Amino acid sequence: MILPNPKTKGDISVEQAIQSRRSFRSFSAEAVGLVHLSQLLWAAQGITEDSGGLRSVPSAGALYPTEIYAVSGRDTVEGLEPGIHQYRPAIHGVDRISGRDIRQDLGRASLSQMWMANAPVVLVICSEYERVTGKYGQRGVRYAMIEAGHVAENIFLQARASGLAAGIVGAFMDDEVVKVMDIPATHEPLLIMPAGYPA
Ligand SMILES: Cc1cc2nc3c(=O)[nH]c(=O)nc-3n(C[C@H](O)[C@H](O)[C@H](O)COP(=O)(O)O)c2cc1C
Repeated sequence: MILPNPKTKGDISVEQAIQSRRSFRSFSAEAVGLVHLSQLLWAAQGITEDSGGLRSVPSAGALYPTEIYAVSGRDTVEGLEPGIHQYRPAIHGVDRISGRDIRQDLGRASLSQMWMANAPVVLVICSEYERVTGKYGQRGVRYAMIEAGHVAENIFLQARASGLAAGIVGAFMDDEVVKVMDIPATHEPLLIMPAGYPA
C-alpha cells in the first residue's frame, strides 16, 4: 500500500519540537490519521533525495541497515488494516506482513509494559547488522545502533510536529519480540516506539 505523500513544511519550528519532546506513556484512543503515520515513517527512513539514494537519517556508508515495522489494531490508524506493516522506503509504502494485532504481545515482551498496547500504533525499529558489518566488521554493529538512535529522535520530533506523542522502549526480550512479530531472525529489534495523539 502506497502512503500519502509526506509534507516538508510543518506548523511548528524544529526548536519547538525539541522543546516539547517527551517520552509519552499514555495516548488518546483516537485513531491516528494515515497522513500522520506516513509522516512518521518518512521521518524514520524516508527517501529525501530525488535520485532515491539518500534518506532522512544518516547511515554509515549509506548502507541503511534499518528496517521499520508499524503495528496497528482494528481502526487504530485511519484506512489501515490491523496487523504488522513493513515500511518500504523505495515506494514510500507499507507491506502488510501479518494481520495480527500484536500490541499486547509487544507489551508483554517488554517486561509487561502494558501501556504500550494502548498506543494506536507501535513502531519497531530493527537493524540487519550484516548490511554494515560486511564493510565495517564488528564496528558496523555500533554504527547500526547509532543509526537507530537517529531514527528514534526523528520519530520523536516528527511526532510533536504532527501533534502526536511518542514513547520509547528499550527494555524488552529480543527473542520474544522477534518471535511474536515472526520477522527474520536477522532483523534485530533495537527500539520500540508507541505513538498516538496525547491523552
Ligand atoms: C535507549 C532508551 C531506552 C528506554 N527504554 C524505556 C523503556 O523501556 N520504558 C520506558 O517507559 N521508557 C524508556 N525510555 C525513556 C526514558 O525513561 C526517558 O527518556 C527518560 O526518563 C527521560 O524522559 P524524557 O524522554 O521524557 O525526556 C528509554 C529511553 C532510551 C533512550
